[in-house]
Amino acid sequence: MDNRPVLFLDSGVGGLPYCYHFHRDNPGEALVYLADREYFPYGSRERPALIRRLTGLLNHLRREYKAKLGVLACNTASVSALQSLRDSFPDLPLVGTVPAVKPAVETSKKRHIGVLGTARTIHDPYIAELAARYGPDCALTAIAAPDLVDFVEHRYAAAGAEERLLAVLPYIEEFRRAGADAIVLGCTHFLFLLDTFRTAAGDMSIHDSVEGVSRRVEALLDQGNLRADPEAGGRTAILLVTGSGPLEPSWQERALAFGPSAMAGMLI
Ligand code: DGL
Repeated sequence: MDNRPVLFLDSGVGGLPYCYHFHRDNPGEALVYLADREYFPYGSRERPALIRRLTGLLNHLRREYKAKLGVLACNTASVSALQSLRDSFPDLPLVGTVPAVKPAVETSKKRHIGVLGTARTIHDPYIAELAARYGPDCALTAIAAPDLVDFVEHRYAAAGAEERLLAVLPYIEEFRRAGADAIVLGCTHFLFLLDTFRTAAGDMSIHDSVEGVSRRVEALLDQGNLRADPEAGGRTAILLVTGSGPLEPSWQERALAFGPSAMAGMLI
């Protein structure tokens, strides 16, 4: 039994749906969520800079919070830095977030998938490799959507359904024009817009990695005998935000919804 927290990390609020999902199925696990807003957006950063940043954050979080496992709840961080972080932290199990290319390829009837992510993610050779591995007969259209990342981070929580739909539609239309019929949400921020994507997509299918990431974390907890003691009680959930201030009140409410003792703080 191990009551140390599981750490989730993203450039901002994007990893929260991953954290919620894991928490829903594993309510006895303590959590630390870090929104690295000071360095947002990760999508426009160079790989070496991201590796340096994430190495520094993980060093700090390990020291302060003694995490037993880390989740890079961010596709950009995962494709850019996961391997390097695993090399630097060999005794910390790390789970990455990778665009759900495989289920999209398996679903696509037109043999054409779309991936929506940050520029850093979609231009990483790993994405083309994934597509070639799972669907060599499948075309790939990859679109960078920094505006949509920014929309979720700063405007989503206060936006209405119409505004959300308008934010998503241009991307759906671009994928449709290209001929794709299975769309991968390749940035964790877009999970907040899952229902909107489904509404806008009509008969195109939408794919994400939330379930897969949760199952992978659970498997590693089981393999390493790292599960929290269900009898221990007193689960904590801590929200950390880098930069000059806490999350906006609208986000704060959402973030706090999953933990009785969550707090916002400044770090580094
Ligand atoms: N949420 C992150 C991802 O999954 C990136 C957003 C950003 O550009 O910071 O890629």
